[in-house]
Amino acid sequence: MAATPDPALPMPSDNESLTQIESQALSELDAVANDDALERWRVAYLGRRGRLTLVLRGLADLPIEERRRVGARANRLKQQLEASVEEKRARLAQSAGEALNAERIDVTLPGPPLPRGRLHPTTQTLRDVLDCFVSMGFQVVEGPEIEWDHYNFEALRIPRDHPARDMWDTLWIDYEKDGERPMLLRTHTSPNQIRVMEQTPEPPVRVVVPGKVYRYEATDPTHEWMHIQVEGLAVDEGISLADLKGTLADFARRIFGPDRKVAFRCDYFPFVEPGMELRIDCFLCGGEGCRTCSHSGWIEILGAGMVHPEILDAVGYDSERYTGFAFGMGIERIAMLRHGIEDIRLFYSNDLRFLRQF
Ligand code: PHE
Repeated sequence: MAATPDPALPMPSDNESLTQIESQALSELDAVANDDALERWRVAYLGRRGRLTLVLRGLADLPIEERRRVGARANRLKQQLEASVEEKRARLAQSAGEALNAERIDVTLPGPPLPRGRLHPTTQTLRDVLDCFVSMGFQVVEGPEIEWDHYNFEALRIPRDHPARDMWDTLWIDYEKDGERPMLLRTHTSPNQIRVMEQTPEPPVRVVVPGKVYRYEATDPTHEWMHIQVEGLAVDEGISLADLKGTLADFARRIFGPDRKVAFRCDYFPFVEPGMELRIDCFLCGGEGCRTCSHSGWIEILGAGMVHPEILDAVGYDSERYTGFAFGMGIERIAMLRHGIEDIRLFYSNDLRFLRQF
């Protein structure tokens, strides 16, 4: 191990030790990484008892010739080291500034936007539809998606083997009782008409029932094996077809625009009498005829009718005293019309490019 010179002792004042001081000083300075280390380095070489200072002090003891030679060199080295200290100090300050700059945060910049979720387009339309009826005094209730044949068909005057069952292609639950399959995935929300009336001993009844319904169907642009319906039911004394018409006209105008015309056309559903379909004038072509309205000027919106008196009697309501209306609509169809969507399958294909547009 090389002997370290005692800084308290004067260095031998010759060229060799000046060369040594110079090379040590410069290589140590190179390793200096902060202001404290720089100050320690400065004190070690240029301080009052620093190595170079001691050499300079020792000059007086040298013979005159040597004093001149060594002195000149030692003074140059002193200037050189002093300049190096300043240069190093400046460089340390600069890199500290750069590091600060690199880490600088502009707290006034807006943050990166958080991705926000949104409601599915059918949920948006469903809520608008429900809001509309709620504001007219209807209450929102729900019923089961797995339903008894009894509520889905029988109690709605759609007996087994009746051709009307063909209107609803059914997904049956694999459960047998007495050789029959009495359970299914509901094909419409109408079974809730019966359920609600059974749970309401005496009218008035005013409900809307949203929910998923299922059909055993091949899918195409206007058919899905699952869609969402909203059922409506109002039963009270003195309810007439005029109430049905007024309620649904109001609904159509709120959802499709204040200038909508509505029209009813006869249709058949076993649980209403008379049964009808509601149409609105085509809001795209204004009745002229276009692709959306199949060139008829009218768009079918929903099925409706006056509750069949046999159904009122069957749930224990006096059909001489009470009358009612019912309606049922597919929410996807309403959303498709509102937004100009041409394929119902888009709703449930989980394509974010589609969903992000709403
Ligand atoms: N449930 C019928 C359907 O799904 C619609 C409807 C409801 C018709 C209420 C009349 C009254 O097609």
